[in-house]
Amino acid sequence: MPVTDLAAAAAEAAARLAAAGVASPDVDARWLVEAAAGVDPRRRPDRALDAAAAARLSELLARRAAREPLQLVTGATAFRTLAPACAPGVFVPRPETEVLAGLAVAAARAAVAATGSALVVEPCTGTGVVGLSVAAEVPGVRVVVSDVDPAATDLAARNRAALGGAARAAVEVRTGDLLDVLVPSERGAVAVLVANPPYLPTSDLPDLTPEVAGHDPHRALFGGPDGHEVVDALLAAAVDVLAPGGVVLLELDVRRGDAAARRAADIGLEGVALHADLTGAPRFLAARRPGPAGARG
Ligand SMILES: C[S@@+](CC[C@H](N)C(=O)[O-])C[C@H]1O[C@@H](n2cnc3c(N)ncnc32)[C@H](O)[C@@H]1O
Repeated sequence: MPVTDLAAAAAEAAARLAAAGVASPDVDARWLVEAAAGVDPRRRPDRALDAAAAARLSELLARRAAREPLQLVTGATAFRTLAPACAPGVFVPRPETEVLAGLAVAAARAAVAATGSALVVEPCTGTGVVGLSVAAEVPGVRVVVSDVDPAATDLAARNRAALGGAARAAVEVRTGDLLDVLVPSERGAVAVLVANPPYLPTSDLPDLTPEVAGHDPHRALFGGPDGHEVVDALLAAAVDVLAPGGVVLLELDVRRGDAAARRAADIGLEGVALHADLTGAPRFLAARRPGPAGARG
């Protein structure tokens, strides 16, 4: 005797999530029903929800109603061409960061076209999604992804293992502080430095949703009292690690874009530009070390 059908289960789940204050209850309810029953309720609305699936749904729903992020409840997300695993204790990738990855893919393609190869470095990698996207989408690159948090690099290594052979072989995962992970021969040879570092000021904490404040590691969110401490450190280091003509791409606090752009110009980077996110806000800084692409510092 079926407990209910998938459409009814999704409607019930959405009502419970709405009551818990979840911002997108209908979408989340559909994902949870799909995770529990193995099928999208929009495709098979009248399929029966069997007892085992109902028990799974009840457990997933309780976690989401307690404001655990959907991606942690289902264990994965979608990011460009990838479906990376997500896990408690590691920052959940956001849709706007797909734009940053797209800028990195374009810069890496241009570098490979100009020189035949390109070293792409992504500190602050979290799940690894940005660097792994570059490896998956741009043949000919070598990618180093790194994070100070071993929980993040464990997960990035797991997500690396899910890539196809050539992309997987192109990626190395390292653990350490910012650009300390680079070996001497890589310094001055980086074609693309890309990062979504922690960039919020600590004073933002009271304004964050329970999903963010309670589940993203605070080291992933907060750059320090000012917010842009890690952004500034990466910009300062960019001048040393980039090859001539190499590109730095950083995700930023939209309130601090102009200040970061001035800083990039002050330290001698060229072609400084701010790119918009999916809402039109200036969230990504792009700049270039002076010199012809393909030359070595
Ligand atoms: C905003 S999360 C971004 C994760 C991933 N790149 C993404 O976009 O989903 C920032 C990441 O920076 C890492 N991090 C913070 N301080 C760091 C440091 N000093 N050196 C290296 N990684 C750092 C955190 O552990 C976290 O994984």
